[in-house]
Amino acid sequence: MLCLDIFGISDPNGPMIYKGTYHLFYQYNPTGAVPGNIVWAHSTSKDLINWTPHPPALSRDTPHDVNGCWSGSATLLPSGEPILVYTGVNTENQQVQNLAIPKNPSDPNLIDWIKPQYNPVIAPTQQNMINATSFRDPTTAWLGRDGLWRLIVGNKIGQNGRMLMFMSRDFVHWFQSKNPLYSRRDTGMWECPDLYPVSTGGEGGAETSAVGRGVKHVLKASMNDGFFDTYAIGSYDDGKDVFVPERGSLRLDSRMRYDHGKFYASKTFFDGSVKRRVLWGWINESTDAATDISKGWSGLQAIPRKIWLHKSGKQLVQWPVKEIEKLREGRVIFPTKELKGGSVLEISGVTASQADVEISFEIPTLEKAEEMDTSLTDPQAICSYGAGKGGVGPFGLLVLASKDLQEYTAVYFRVFRAKTRYVVIMCSDQSRSSLSLDYDKPTYGAFVDVDPVKEKLSLRTLIDHSIVECFGGDGKACITARVYPSVAIDGGAHLFAFNNGTYDIKISKLAAWSMKAAQIN
Ligand SMILES: *[C@@H]1O[C@H](CO)[C@@H](O)[C@H](O)[C@H]1NC(C)=O
Ligand SMILES: *[C@@H]1O[C@H](CO)[C@@H](O)[C@H](O)[C@H]1NC(C)=O
Ligand SMILES: *[C@@H]1O[C@H](CO)[C@@H](O)[C@H](O)[C@H]1NC(C)=O
Repeated sequence: MLCLDIFGISDPNGPMIYKGTYHLFYQYNPTGAVPGNIVWAHSTSKDLINWTPHPPALSRDTPHDVNGCWSGSATLLPSGEPILVYTGVNTENQQVQNLAIPKNPSDPNLIDWIKPQYNPVIAPTQQNMINATSFRDPTTAWLGRDGLWRLIVGNKIGQNGRMLMFMSRDFVHWFQSKNPLYSRRDTGMWECPDLYPVSTGGEGGAETSAVGRGVKHVLKASMNDGFFDTYAIGSYDDGKDVFVPERGSLRLDSRMRYDHGKFYASKTFFDGSVKRRVLWGWINESTDAATDISKGWSGLQAIPRKIWLHKSGKQLVQWPVKEIEKLREGRVIFPTKELKGGSVLEISGVTASQADVEISFEIPTLEKAEEMDTSLTDPQAICSYGAGKGGVGPFGLLVLASKDLQEYTAVYFRVFRAKTRYVVIMCSDQSRSSLSLDYDKPTYGAFVDVDPVKEKLSLRTLIDHSIVECFGGDGKACITARVYPSVAIDGGAHLFAFNNGTYDIKISKLAAWSMKAAQIN
């Protein structure tokens, strides 16, 4: 397994690097595969790939979290020591924000945590009128230029999503900012907010408190209504303490997502060891609760991704962290090759059930691309037509495929002609992914902002038995799928490139690796 598949897990919590050790906490139900009894499980790693599990860091053992230790974040203080802020569900089932501090800061594994007597540090009250059942998921705190710590907590009032800001001089006494950092009407509850700077000059990450020249800010929310993680690019005005989306930037809209498949409750952290920002996200199951109970576990974490601002300034780019390449073995390289319209090419020589595939396509006959139906603005709707015969595309990969192509997950591109440009769409189609499971096999879709006249169309795909993570256009569009093949498992899994378009295309690059298993427990 490449990923962390563990019994009843969901949101990643408090990721950080401390004394050279990466920490990941996550929402975990130690008593079953479905939600409930939530604690903070804890694992550490030296390389983000191989993990050592530890006892839960936060358990339900105070009046302020007896009904659940819900999501939260880690902040590194100027002294270098970490502090956790998390949502506790108290004896009255109210959501309150608590602190936890390491018992022994000299231990790089930070096994034991203390919950101070003064918890909770932020709570809904008569005065602040905060809805006590819609008040959760504190962010990493940042230090303002005025010496005040700030953090955000997700909230809604009626159906209006809000990010409430709180400030503190000492990290213990917090007061609420006059205005929310950001709010939008009719968006529902905003879970797991994240606010962070991104560098405007390259792929390097920016430290969470960075403001001003050289950075823009990203604001992300996990939309409880709709179950997707969306972001906006803009600026954080640290005088007024508001977030201002850039003109033209979508404002927490379903089109601007980290990932157009299954990917929720994500969280970033700044990895100071190599100056990058790393994104963690939760991939849930497509199976129902009864199936999860019978298999005894559910949910996993996606492979951590480096995340940065594209040079256009208009969107983020994501790429699996470099360390994942340590798991590669037995590389297979194909020479440049034509892929005729209507053809299928087997990519043999790799373990198709656990692989990393990099492929790029060149399109010689763009003029013949089908005309874009401009009434279709939702790429998922276009993808839902399936990978049947097209003009330029569909072309891409059939992964976790049975030898006879009765079972496969298709990930592919399609190119359309619009008035003044070409439109590229990436799809991940699970409709034929399993011969035994016949529900929840969606088709996901995303626009990929590339110009096929000037650029090759690249696709990186990480395949891990039941998970297919795709990065199109060098990481401009990401789609993660859960699939449950019944024939294309282990040695029965095959990998193909295909072109179901009318026109021939060229594979300009194709490299594939079998992937070793990571150590996770
Ligand atoms: C408070 O949140 C709960 C849970 O989402 C919701 O059912 C309730 O309507 C909210 N109350 C108000 C006044 O918004
Ligand atoms: C899993 O996530 C999808 C969205 O990707 C959501 O529609 C579905 O309800 C979730 N399933 C479960 C069992 O939580
Ligand atoms: C290619 O198109 C044909 C004809 O529409 C269809 O039967 C076949 O399933 C398509 N291939 C894929 C991979 O979807």
